[in-house]
Amino acid sequence: VRPDALARGIGQMGLDPIVQLASLAAVTSRITLVATISATFADPFTVARQLSSLEHLAGPRIGWNLVTSLGGDANHTAPRSTDSAGRWRRAEEFLDVVESLRDSFRADALVIDRDSGDFADPGLVRSIDHDGENFAVAGPLTTPSVRAGRLPLLQAGDSDSGRAFAARHADMVFCLSPRPEISAELRTDLAVRAEVAGRGRGTVAVLPGLSLFLASTRAEAWALYVSAEGHAGADDGDDGQLAGRIDRAEQGGRHWTVIGTPADAVTAIEERAVAGSIDGFIAFPGGSLGSARLLVDEVMPTLRERGLVG
Ligand SMILES: Cc1cc2nc3c(=O)[nH]c(=O)nc-3n(C[C@H](O)[C@H](O)[C@H](O)COP(=O)(O)O)c2cc1C
Repeated sequence: VRPDALARGIGQMGLDPIVQLASLAAVTSRITLVATISATFADPFTVARQLSSLEHLAGPRIGWNLVTSLGGDANHTAPRSTDSAGRWRRAEEFLDVVESLRDSFRADALVIDRDSGDFADPGLVRSIDHDGENFAVAGPLTTPSVRAGRLPLLQAGDSDSGRAFAARHADMVFCLSPRPEISAELRTDLAVRAEVAGRGRGTVAVLPGLSLFLASTRAEAWALYVSAEGHAGADDGDDGQLAGRIDRAEQGGRHWTVIGTPADAVTAIEERAVAGSIDGFIAFPGGSLGSARLLVDEVMPTLRERGLVG
């Protein structure tokens, strides 16, 4: 991350997801809290402990968005594989270690018997003694996991190795799909790959990112977009470049983007859903808090009325 990029725009700025989700766990009861964690730079024992700790706060409402990171080498000590196959191999081992650790000490092993002095059933707490290509981890985990079985998993990364990983392990895939045919192709490909992996065609849901600039009129929505984009990058103030950005948004050069009214957003989402190119979306309401409010108060209820979301 370049210092000037942080000085001029929100870009990569953010809170640590585990800390943020721990606080959200206290004030929510129905949404699932999904942390993005990099299998390239994080440490599996720490991650298993964090996710199991979050599970104590949120119950079964937790998940993991597993990424392998495009950059970040300059900030982390963990060695980063130069090729995508190596990164996804590491991710596979990482996931295996985390799941094994979570299984090594489960809450149902707890006895907590003052009379006998037994805290947990010794037969249900075990080492994992993992010794693999990237990690050596003895276990057991020191935080009991609440849920038996694996965590709901999102994946992001579109290479051949990334797709192979997703087909074997992911429940959902977060993708970049400015045009509907991109996620449609991914959806078909993942269905075939998942079937080959023995999981069944419909097991991997495809969720493209969706940038939303919403207002009660299209003109206001465009004004919101223009002002947000004007502040969003290093080329702030250059009209030519800003016009180029708007063009790209219209043609969909980055994430799928809707600039308009809540009804426009519903139409756009419905079109892709009916065409079979998406199973859902990951919304980024932008430009103002008003965009987020319109998403929650108008777009989502209308999608629900139309039977497009549960
Ligand atoms: C839609 C999308 C979102 C991503 N989000 C993140 C992220 O938040 N953090 C991160 O470190 N990497 C993120 N990545 C990077 C991927 O995990 C992956 O490392 C990258 O796409 C290269 O993987 P590949 O070899 O499969 O193409 C994201 C990738 C995509 C496509």
